[in-house]
Amino acid sequence: MENNRRTFLKKLSLAGAASAMSPAVFAADSLNDVSILRRNVPMRSDSVIRIGLVGAGIMGSQDLTTALQHADVEVVAVCDLFQGRLETAKEKWGNHLFTTMDYKEVLKRKDVDAIIIGTPDHWHKQICIDALNAGKHVYCEKPMVHSVKEGHEVINAWKKSGKIMVIGSQGISSLGNEKAKELLAAGAIGDINYAEGFWARHSPEGAWQYSIPADASDKNVDWKRYVSNTQNRPFDPLRFFRWRNYLDYGTGMSGDLFVHLFSSLHFITNSYGPNKISAMGGLRYWKDGREVPDVLLGMFQYPQSEQHPGFNLSLRCNFVDGTSGSTYLKVVGSKGSMDVKWDEVVVKSNLQAGSDDPFLEQQAKLNQAVEQRKKILPPREMVYKVESGYKGAHYDHFGKFFTAIREGGSVIEDPVFGFRAAAPALLCNDSYFQDKFISWDPVNMKLT
Ligand SMILES: NC(=O)c1ccc[n+]([C@@H]2O[C@H](COP(=O)([O-])OP(=O)(O)OC[C@H]3O[C@@H](n4cnc5c(N)ncnc54)[C@H](O)[C@@H]3O)[C@@H](O)[C@H]2O)c1
Repeated sequence: MENNRRTFLKKLSLAGAASAMSPAVFAADSLNDVSILRRNVPMRSDSVIRIGLVGAGIMGSQDLTTALQHADVEVVAVCDLFQGRLETAKEKWGNHLFTTMDYKEVLKRKDVDAIIIGTPDHWHKQICIDALNAGKHVYCEKPMVHSVKEGHEVINAWKKSGKIMVIGSQGISSLGNEKAKELLAAGAIGDINYAEGFWARHSPEGAWQYSIPADASDKNVDWKRYVSNTQNRPFDPLRFFRWRNYLDYGTGMSGDLFVHLFSSLHFITNSYGPNKISAMGGLRYWKDGREVPDVLLGMFQYPQSEQHPGFNLSLRCNFVDGTSGSTYLKVVGSKGSMDVKWDEVVVKSNLQAGSDDPFLEQQAKLNQAVEQRKKILPPREMVYKVESGYKGAHYDHFGKFFTAIREGGSVIEDPVFGFRAAAPALLCNDSYFQDKFISWDPVNMKLT
C-alpha cells in the first residue's frame, strides 16, 4: 500500500504542473485529505483583441462579458436577429457599438479580429465557415455543429484558414478537469473501465421554457433570416425563443448537455470517442409541443485505443428530476474513482478490499486456520478544491483562446476535438429517433 502510494506520488510529481500539493495532503492516516488547486500561469496580454459577437442571447452575452474581463480585449460589433437584444447590447457595452442583423456585416469589418458565435445550433456551421474564410478567429458555442454531416466542412475551413478556433465547452479549461486528467495519467484510480455522467433539472427554465419578450413580433425579429437555412415556416416566437425544443434549430438534451460531459471525458482520458452509441428516453412531463425527449439515457462503447483501455460510458439527463438535482461526471477505474467537477475533484480509493462474499465466508468457517474475516473500510478520499477567488473555467477558456491568438499557438478544444465531442451527442438523437444502435469511427470521424 505504502509502496503504491509512493509510486503514485512520484508519478504525480512528474505529471503535475497546474496544481499545488502540500506534503501534508498525503499524511499517511488521513482519510479525508484536501488539496487546493491554483491557476499559476498568468495570461499574457500584449496586444488588443477586438471582438464581434454574433448571437447576443443568454450565452453569447455571458461569453462576451467573460471575454471582456481579460486585459486588452474590446468589443466593436454585435449582431442579433432580435432588435431588443441589440438595444440591450448597447446599454451593456456602449453606444459606440456597431449593431446589425446581418452577421456578414460584422465579418466584413477590418477592426474585428475574433468572432464569438452564440446563435442557436443550426447557425453554427455556416457562421464558423464564413468567419474563418473572412480571416477571423472563432469562439463557437457548443455543440460545434447541428448534425454530423456538417463536421468535416467546419474542420476543413478551419485547417485552410490558419486561424484559431475554439469550441465553447468551457469545462475542459477548468482546474478541476485539468486535475482529473493529471490524476488519471498518474494512475490514481488505476485503469479506467467505466464512466457516468448525469444532468438533472426540474424547473421551467431548466427545461428550456424561457420567457418570451412581450413585444416580440416579426417586426422586431428577423424571422426570415432565422429560418433561411432550414424549413420555412410562419413566425413562431416559441421556435425563436425556445429553439432548443425543435429539431430544425436545436440538438435536444444530448446536443445541449451531454456534449459538455463528452468534452470533459475526452479531455481527461485523451479519448477520440465511442464507436457504438445507443439511446433511450421519452417525453414524460414537458408536453409543450417540443419535439425532443425530457428524459434521455445514452450508453456508449469506448474501444481500446493507444490512449486508454476499452471502457463504457453511461449518460443520463432528466428534466423532471424530483429527487437529486445533481449533475456530475464520475470516472471509475480498477483502483478507485473520481467525481469530477469544474472546481473540485474527489478521488476515492479502497484502502483494503473486504469481502462479504457468502462462499468465502463459508470457506473461512470451514477452515479455522483462516484469520478473522476482514471488514470493509471506508474509502480513502482525497478532495481537490480550487482556491477562493478562482475566476473559473469560462474565464480560463477565453484566456487560452486569447493566448493562442497572441502567440500563434493552438487550443485543445479545436474543431477536431469539438467534432469528436459533438458527434456522439448528435448520434444519441439519431439512435433515439431511429430506435437503433449507431456505429461510429471516432478516429476518422465517420459513420460506419
Ligand atoms: N457553453 C455553455 O455553457 C452554454 C450554455 C448555454 C448555451 N450554450 C450554447 O450557446 C448557444 C446559444 O444559446 P442561448 O441559450 O444563448 O440561446 P438564446 O436563444 O438565448 O440566444 C441565441 C441568440 O442568437 C440570435 N440569433 C439566432 N440566429 C441568428 C443569426 N443567424 N445571426 C445572429 N443572431 C442570431 C437570437 O436572436 C438570440 O438572441 C447555443 O449553441 C447553446 O448550445 C452554451
